[in-house]
Amino acid sequence: MKFFIDTADLSEIEEIASWGCLAGVTTNPSLYAKIGGKLADFEDHMVKICKLVGDDVPVSAESTATTTEGMIEEGRRLAALAPNIVVKLPICPEALAATRVLAEEGIRVNMTLIFSVPQALLAARAGARYISPFVGRFDDIGEDGIDQLDSVVSAVYNYDYGWWEDEGGVEIISASLRTAQHVTQAALMGADIATIPYATLKKCVTHPLTVNGLAAFEADWKKVTGAE
Ligand code: G3P
Repeated sequence: MKFFIDTADLSEIEEIASWGCLAGVTTNPSLYAKIGGKLADFEDHMVKICKLVGDDVPVSAESTATTTEGMIEEGRRLAALAPNIVVKLPICPEALAATRVLAEEGIRVNMTLIFSVPQALLAARAGARYISPFVGRFDDIGEDGIDQLDSVVSAVYNYDYGWWEDEGGVEIISASLRTAQHVTQAALMGADIATIPYATLKKCVTHPLTVNGLAAFEADWKKVTGAE
């Protein structure tokens, strides 16, 4: 499973990129608003993220257009900002139509706000490069987000779509992940990618037994070196 970070915060991206295992970045309007982003700076900010992570690391930038024509126009504009931009579109009829046009032009789309198997399959058929089923928001309404993700993963991998074969085919981004346990379950079911908030990534890299074990090693090493 590949690790993406789900944030628009440059310092968070820079820190996690320094770990050497960051494979992508996803943003959305809420994450951009969270860092105090302004409309006039949006495209410059996306370019900064793209330059920070490098051309081989996909960066999802979301279109806020509401018509097919608007999504196509904004998608083309965003894709022209940097070679690693992926246009994020929310699943709806207008976005499916826009995805088809953009995919035929070689522009990668990450179809987001996926909450069902039919939504995911429609996105793949329309030519989405990435499909983002949400987990945590399903849990928020008393449903089982991991169970739903499992259904999406199984259904999507039942078929070939004929899109993006030179890049390994359509990939599933497990999104709205809130815990390390969500990440574990997404990996066990074989989801291609997990996009994870900064705070959850920090939790993924640690474990209480790792902390305890390190403290014991340090204490014992002081006995060896006589530094006590
Ligand atoms: O990638 C989607 C993600 O940003 C949504 O997360 O926690 O707002 O449901 P959340």
